[in-house]
Amino acid sequence: MEGQEVSSKDEGHKMLPVDGPGWSYVNGVLHCDGMSLEDLRMSLKKDYGLQGSPAHIYSYSALVANVKKYTDALCPLGERGVLSYSLKANNNLRVLEALRQAGVNMATTVSGNEILMAMKAGFAATNIIYNGTGKRRWEVELAIKHGVLLNLDSEFDARLIAGVAREMGLRARCIVRLNPALNADTHPYLATALADSKFGVEFHQLERVLQVVRTGESGDVEHVIVEGVHIHVGSAVSRTQVFSDMTRVAARALREIRERGWPRASTINLGGGLNIRLSGVPGKNDERPATPEQLVGAILPLLPEGSTLLLEPGRSLVATAGSCAFTGVLMTEVLGVKTNGKRRFLVVDAAMTEVIRPALYGAHHPVTHVTIPACQEWAVMDVVGPVCESGDFLARRCMLSLSLSSGAALVVWATGAYCSSMASNYNLRPHAIEVIVKAPDLYTVVRRPENFEDLISCYL
Ligand SMILES: Cc1ncc(COP(=O)(O)O)c(C=O)c1O
Repeated sequence: MEGQEVSSKDEGHKMLPVDGPGWSYVNGVLHCDGMSLEDLRMSLKKDYGLQGSPAHIYSYSALVANVKKYTDALCPLGERGVLSYSLKANNNLRVLEALRQAGVNMATTVSGNEILMAMKAGFAATNIIYNGTGKRRWEVELAIKHGVLLNLDSEFDARLIAGVAREMGLRARCIVRLNPALNADTHPYLATALADSKFGVEFHQLERVLQVVRTGESGDVEHVIVEGVHIHVGSAVSRTQVFSDMTRVAARALREIRERGWPRASTINLGGGLNIRLSGVPGKNDERPATPEQLVGAILPLLPEGSTLLLEPGRSLVATAGSCAFTGVLMTEVLGVKTNGKRRFLVVDAAMTEVIRPALYGAHHPVTHVTIPACQEWAVMDVVGPVCESGDFLARRCMLSLSLSSGAALVVWATGAYCSSMASNYNLRPHAIEVIVKAPDLYTVVRRPENFEDLISCYL
């Protein structure tokens, strides 16, 4: 077709977007932990009919391998190296349980409901962190009651937390979230510590926040224990230099906290944020992001005496990052092929409701075939969903087979993080089924697909 790229030479699109445990093509068919995705697809269809697709598929072995990358990296620190998982990336209860069993010590949450979910997944309340720029009273009460570690995000947040703790006659365990005004060199929507970001307090405000929690409104003391400092500069960070810079700022803040009344403060929480690497993705992703080992290596020499390093990754545990493995993909079925102008569209049954990141911040998720077709003709296509929005695309300019037709299966890669947890019911689309694959003949449905009854159940 005139103006459209058709190719049979470049073979890159027939390969996995990145090497690693969990995923492989065997005789041209994609396998997850040894299970053929074609077999899995048939099995889900048998049990769930049309609701069996699209499906979030998680590789258990990749998840375990990613946790190990972090725990190995933190190993030189012994008990002073702590891995916390950021629930916002993927809050599936069974995924949380699997992460905990694989060796994740703590859970980082951003809402009262995430605190409750982390507790349900078996995390001890004292091993839960609660971050938030706008905490509500019930969430603060819940956190203090259970001994959750809260971050102090602003002066008003500090006042609320100190006040609630005083009223409850309890002590709130806290860390101060700092905004170090560091450029993490990432998408503006993913940067959380630019000078004008909404998160945390600036260094010059630290003294004031500490004063608020020391003395409270009415001169009460000791209702807040400041255990340390927290910095998270954003997601999709590739360079270790950013983490070294963060450590220096955190060390200064920790010194100040110790001097201003909490001499035993020891926690340095440097957030999450490792970028992901996908082959064939243009732009900054060509830069190889740091591995967990390189990340810890950049931080370790700068850690102050007697401090505990806490990392709270999300994406790099449940999607992929640096040398980490793909944990999750979204399997979707082709509904049809159409062309408009010079564009060829592959319309699939998944949409921005399952993978919002391309529309939200231009994220690129590679798309490949579940079964690589024999057809030698390939073309550039936009993979789009059925949602009634022009922004509803899963990936643009993908090299896919011209033989694709209705019923064929594709996978959208690296969807384990910020996809299921960001899903919506827009267009009254139900939340997709989620599956963990553990072995060639073993998978568990860890979230059933929603149905119409679920969607109308809240209407009174
Ligand atoms: C405070 C905090 N910690 C950790 C994370 C996890 O980041 P990532 O998924 O990029 O590792 C986030 C995500 O934005 C966050 O806001």
